[in-house]
Amino acid sequence: MGERFPQEFIDELVARTDIVELIDSRIPLRKAGREYVACCPFHNEKTPSFTVSPQKQFYHCFGCGVHGTVIGFLIAFDRLSFIEAVEELAQRVGMTIPQGSDSAHRNHHQGLYEVLSYTAEFYQQQLKTGTHQGRVKAYLQGRGLSHPIITEFGLGFAPSRWDALLRHTPLPLRSRLQTAGLVVDKGDGRCYDRFRDRVMFPIHDYRGRVVGFGGRLLGEGSPKYLNSPETPLFHKGRELYGLYQVRQSVRHCDRLLVVEGYMDVLALAEHNIRYAVATLGTATTPDHLTRLFRMTPVVVFCFDGDRAGYRAAWRALETALPLLSQGRQVQFMFLPQGEDPDTVVRAEGQAAFEARLEKATPLSDFLLSSLQRKVNLGSMDGRARLVELARPLVSKIPPGVYRDMLLARLAEVAQVEQAALTRHLDQGKSPPVVPRQRLERGMAPLARKAVAILLQRPNLIQSVDESFSLRGLDGRGAKLLQELIELLQSSPHLSTAALLERWRDSEMGRYLEQLASWELFLTDEDMGLELQAALRRLQAQAAEQRMTMLSNQPSLTAAERQELLALLAAK
Ligand code: CTP
Ligand code: MN
Repeated sequence: MGERFPQEFIDELVARTDIVELIDSRIPLRKAGREYVACCPFHNEKTPSFTVSPQKQFYHCFGCGVHGTVIGFLIAFDRLSFIEAVEELAQRVGMTIPQGSDSAHRNHHQGLYEVLSYTAEFYQQQLKTGTHQGRVKAYLQGRGLSHPIITEFGLGFAPSRWDALLRHTPLPLRSRLQTAGLVVDKGDGRCYDRFRDRVMFPIHDYRGRVVGFGGRLLGEGSPKYLNSPETPLFHKGRELYGLYQVRQSVRHCDRLLVVEGYMDVLALAEHNIRYAVATLGTATTPDHLTRLFRMTPVVVFCFDGDRAGYRAAWRALETALPLLSQGRQVQFMFLPQGEDPDTVVRAEGQAAFEARLEKATPLSDFLLSSLQRKVNLGSMDGRARLVELARPLVSKIPPGVYRDMLLARLAEVAQVEQAALTRHLDQGKSPPVVPRQRLERGMAPLARKAVAILLQRPNLIQSVDESFSLRGLDGRGAKLLQELIELLQSSPHLSTAALLERWRDSEMGRYLEQLASWELFLTDEDMGLELQAALRRLQAQAAEQRMTMLSNQPSLTAAERQELLALLAAK
């Protein structure tokens, strides 16, 4: 992450997108006065309190308090990352992502998407034609896969010829096969197909574009599975098999299941368990988990009940710890040794599989029981050791309810005072983040009101004097107001939403969103008057402070003396 887009690009993107139209395409809106309303998609309600303001280009729910810009909406509703949301909007309004940003890079890879999609179609075609057809069909049938699932997941077949794909690919696309990871250079400048005589599983990105493949041999042999190598479009640490298909059927789900194999995802889908995804022969990464948590608060990992399974689960636990905040949960489901979700669901069916899932072990239980097994709780030394073992793990969890609860349990098991434990854990750690309340308290009411009005009616900048300055006035509110005024003076056409995007990712941003949705109960005219009054008073306060500061100075420069005289005269 951390990609940056030029500010002007975001400004224009927000300006060109109509938030009403975008949200209306997902949840039907009804006009009510100057705004549009609907039942809030982010909480359960019967009467609409979700409002969309075409003027501010901002949505706000009076019921649950969610709010944001068009970008924020895509992040919250479509569960996209910031970059994905920007890409989505850019595509919608026909803007090209500027050079230099990471997305531009991806745009350059348009040709790769093309050849990958061409290849996926070729493999699919091979399922329906050719001499191998009977053998492949029998294999898929033997694995319990039905036609609808085969089609939905776009399964295909790579023929055994060493140049089946290569020869079939039209010349203009052929040169891209290698970068796309589909052919391999023999070393003598000659290429051959990477995937041969394999059932092919296309791997889709969040938008459904094919970015890579997995391939499985029909019979015995090695390697049983072969995956696309890392390419500019395909990163095993990012993509999850089946995630696109999950997103197609649901937007939010109560839980997502992470399994190990392609076949597991397909067998589960075949048994109507439509919330499973697979990692691609790698351990789960923070990127994977972040993606999953965008769609669900509960991630369940499914592993084999053998030693390797426990080891893998432990690794997943360590990856998950830093992400455990905001009510997120991780659970582990262990299957009998030698089984995988594919074999279990086929043998036992959906209901039995889901019953197992209900009994999944919460992360905290798994963590504590694993550590407890390593020490002798009967002795003081053993309990001290338990705390030592738990310490680096617990300190990875963000401060919050979850961590506190885990600490309470740890304290209980280790028989120590929780306060002592907490002190012990936080040693040498950086101070906690400043809570938001402090931020609000730091802003004087007058400055806050001026900021809110300007944010809600940016065109009022026209009434602000060119030379307006709050020089000398301390405080967050004054600084922010000054910043906002200067920004609007140089870019007077920014909407509320575009302004908010300037502060995205900053602590101030969240506060500004609140100010943007603050109901001021003022007419447009009154807003202008109130702003003028607030600015005048702030400016007077600034002058006052500056005067005090200058008159307390032991000596003044000529310029400072001039300024002081002017200030006194103005008074
Ligand atoms: N895998 C891989 N490379 C391998 C073996 C496995 O990338 N050489 C990955 C694949 O994503 C595969 C998953 O690990 O889907 C699970 O592999 P494995 O446990 O071998 O799957 P099985 O259940 O044995 O596969 P199948 O059911 O198809 O026999
Ligand atoms: Mn299997």
